[in-house]
Amino acid sequence: MKKIPLFKSYVDKSDYKSVLNSLKTGWLTHGSSNLVFEEKFSKYIGSKFSISMNSCTSALECSLKILKKKGEVIIPSWTWVSTANAVLNTGNIPVFADVNINSRNLNAENIEKKINKKTIAVIVVHYAGLPCEMDEIMKLTKKRKISLIEDSAETLGAKWKKNYTGSFGMGCFSFFPTKNITTTEGGMLTINNRKQYLEVKKIIAHGIDHDKKPVFWHREAVLPGHNFRLPNHLAALGISQLKKLNKFNAKRRLIAKRYDNFLKKFEDVFAIQKVSKNLTHSYQMYTCLLKPKLRNNFLFFMKKNGIEVSAHFVPPLHKQNYLKKFCKKKLKNTEYLSRSIVTLPIYPNLKNVDLNRIFKLITKWYEKIKKN
Ligand SMILES: Cc1ncc(COP(=O)(O)O)c(C=O)c1O
Repeated sequence: MKKIPLFKSYVDKSDYKSVLNSLKTGWLTHGSSNLVFEEKFSKYIGSKFSISMNSCTSALECSLKILKKKGEVIIPSWTWVSTANAVLNTGNIPVFADVNINSRNLNAENIEKKINKKTIAVIVVHYAGLPCEMDEIMKLTKKRKISLIEDSAETLGAKWKKNYTGSFGMGCFSFFPTKNITTTEGGMLTINNRKQYLEVKKIIAHGIDHDKKPVFWHREAVLPGHNFRLPNHLAALGISQLKKLNKFNAKRRLIAKRYDNFLKKFEDVFAIQKVSKNLTHSYQMYTCLLKPKLRNNFLFFMKKNGIEVSAHFVPPLHKQNYLKKFCKKKLKNTEYLSRSIVTLPIYPNLKNVDLNRIFKLITKWYEKIKKN
């Protein structure tokens, strides 16, 4: 039985060529392709600057390091562990806010409930390809003078009104193979402040200040930096992938529409996501909700029949053992989502025959549970 994966990167001949040409130059670390990738990325997103690095997790850490103060950072519990880890690993405290069930995202109302004198920032997570509703969030962060960081690991190429995610605050992107484009491992930080941009460039490369160079062999470190660099050949892969991003996302949207239309037939058990008219969706994941008492049975059934399905995220962060102590209250919507979410296969090259096989199997499962 052929397995249908949950995610699959689309890497073609033009990508191989791009990587090979880069390797052939003999320049094997951060180099000229990084600068080109960053410039093209900024142009696409609409940010002043971009800094390529080895992961979104590193981008999140950099965004917090440059704030120059420590305190509480509001984040959703409905996210990957990196969001909280970046908060803890930079000496801050995560404060979990609940999300909306349909969008699975934070909104201004839920963020505001968690703001106090110790709050220094909020990290909004644009979950699975759907941007947060940014107008109210930006108004709130400006009014309360807290920094706005966007964890856009799962959302590249989707807009709130006319603007892409990553252009509202500091944007953190991932190019992990399951994401909208890939550089294998990799990430990007988008930023509008020049001083902060220059500081991040130092943080990701051992803290060395290349302007302080009285002689060519002098290397002066001005802060305790990291090695978060993305190598040149992976930046070259990023450039080649970025050219295909709009095509990838168009394909993802078509597949999502087919899932929506199909699942509508079973609305007594499945709930599809509604996308408000101010938003576009880039469907890094396709998620729907299933009645909690049926969810696990469905996941086991699909897996047994060769379809890779999953549930993002179980457990949610505030239920992870090492994070429990940061959340004393129930997060009702997040907990409901964790019991009902289903992630179905989506990737640009998902063939119609495979999608039809998924539909056939879902119908079979539905008929089976209706009989029992
Ligand atoms: C919401 C979110 N944040 C951060 C990350 C981390 O990305 P990376 O693997 O590039 O560090 C992920 C990746 O899965 C994610 O989904």
